[in-house]
Amino acid sequence: MTRLETVDPSDDRQYAEFYAAYAAAYAGTLVPLWTAREKRVHLQPDPYEPYTALFARDDDGRPVGGGSVTLPQRDNREFAYAEVWTVPGRRREGHATAVLDALEDIARRAGRSTVFMEATSPLDDDHPAPVAFLEKRGYIFDMRDAVRELPLPAELPAPSGDPAYRLESWHGRVPDDRLEQYAALRRLIVSEAPQGDAGLEDQFWDAERVRSEQDRRERQGRDFWITVAVAPDGTLAGHTDLVLPEGSADAFQWDTLVLREHRGHGLGLAMKLANMHAAADDLAGRRAIITYNAAANRHMIAVNEAMGYRQVAWVGEYVKKI
Ligand SMILES: CC(C)(COP(=O)(O)OP(=O)(O)OC[C@H]1O[C@@H](n2cnc3c(N)ncnc32)[C@H](O)[C@@H]1OP(=O)(O)O)[C@@H](O)C(=O)NCCC(=O)NCCS
Repeated sequence: MTRLETVDPSDDRQYAEFYAAYAAAYAGTLVPLWTAREKRVHLQPDPYEPYTALFARDDDGRPVGGGSVTLPQRDNREFAYAEVWTVPGRRREGHATAVLDALEDIARRAGRSTVFMEATSPLDDDHPAPVAFLEKRGYIFDMRDAVRELPLPAELPAPSGDPAYRLESWHGRVPDDRLEQYAALRRLIVSEAPQGDAGLEDQFWDAERVRSEQDRRERQGRDFWITVAVAPDGTLAGHTDLVLPEGSADAFQWDTLVLREHRGHGLGLAMKLANMHAAADDLAGRRAIITYNAAANRHMIAVNEAMGYRQVAWVGEYVKKI
C-alpha cells in the first residue's frame, strides 16, 4: 500500500524527509534538482500558480516517493502540471501510480480537464522508465524539448547585435519604470515560442505578478540577472533571464524573447552574451548553464549552439484528458 500525506512546508521534520526522498529519486538522472529552499518556498501559498506536493510512505512509514501538482489560477485554467517520482529500490511497486491517481484527482476536483507531465530521456535511450510509465498511464506525447548545457567557464563569441539597440542588464529586480513593459514581454512566451497541440494560452503577467515573483525568488535564494534590448524608440524589444539558485552547482537560462518586429537584428545572441557578462562574478565556480528549448525552435537553438551549448537530454511533454 502507498500512504499519502500532503506536504506542509512549515513542518520541519516532514519537509526534511520529503526533500531527502525527492533528491534520492532524481540522483543520477538528467533532471536538475531544486534546492531545499527553492522547493520549500514554492510550497507556500501563491495566488498565481499554487503548488501542492504529496509525500508517499509505505505501510511501515518509510518514504517511497512523492509528486506535485500546479494549478494555474489566472490563465490556462483547464490545465494542471504534475510530477511524480519514486525512490530507487522501491520502483515497480505501484507507488507512482498511487501518487499520480491522487494528483489527477486534485486536478479533477479543481475543474481541470488536462494534465501535463514531463519525461526526461538520455540521448541514447528513447524509452526510459518515465516514458514507459506515462504511456501505461494513458498520457499522449505532445511535444519535445531539447536540454542543452554550456560548461563553465565558457569561451564566448564576441559581443554582437545591432548597435541601434541598447542593452541594459538588471541584477534581480526590474526597475519600476520598466515593469509594465517587462510584464508585457512575459505574457508572450507561449504564443511566440513553438508549442505542442494541447492548447496552452499565454500566461497572465502584470506588474504586480512580476514583483510577486521577484519577492518569492529572493525568499528562494534565487539570484537573477535579466538583460533587455531597448529599441531606438525607447521601448523594450526583448529580454533574457538567467537564474542562479544559491547552493546549486548550475545556473539556468530561462526565457529569451525578441518581439516579432525586432527580429533579425541579432538581439537573442547579443542579450544572452551581455547577460552572461553581467552575471560573470555570480557564474564563477558553477559547473554549467542549463537551458530547455522546444526541439522545433531552430533560431533559439542556433543561438545556443553558437554560444557553445551542447545537447544532453530530451524532455517529452505528455498530456492526458482526465
Ligand atoms: C517513472 C517512475 C516515477 C515510475 O515509478 P514507479 O513507482 O516505479 O511506477 P509504478 O510502479 O507505479 O509503475 C506503473 C507502471 O508503469 C510502467 N513502468 C514503470 N517503470 C517502468 C520501467 N522501468 N520499464 C517499463 N515499464 C515501466 C509499468 O507498466 C508499471 O506497471 P508494472 O510494474 O505492473 O509493469 C520512476 O521510475 C522514477 O521515479 N523515475 C525517476 C523520476 C522521474 O523521472 N520522474 C518523472 C516521471 S514521468
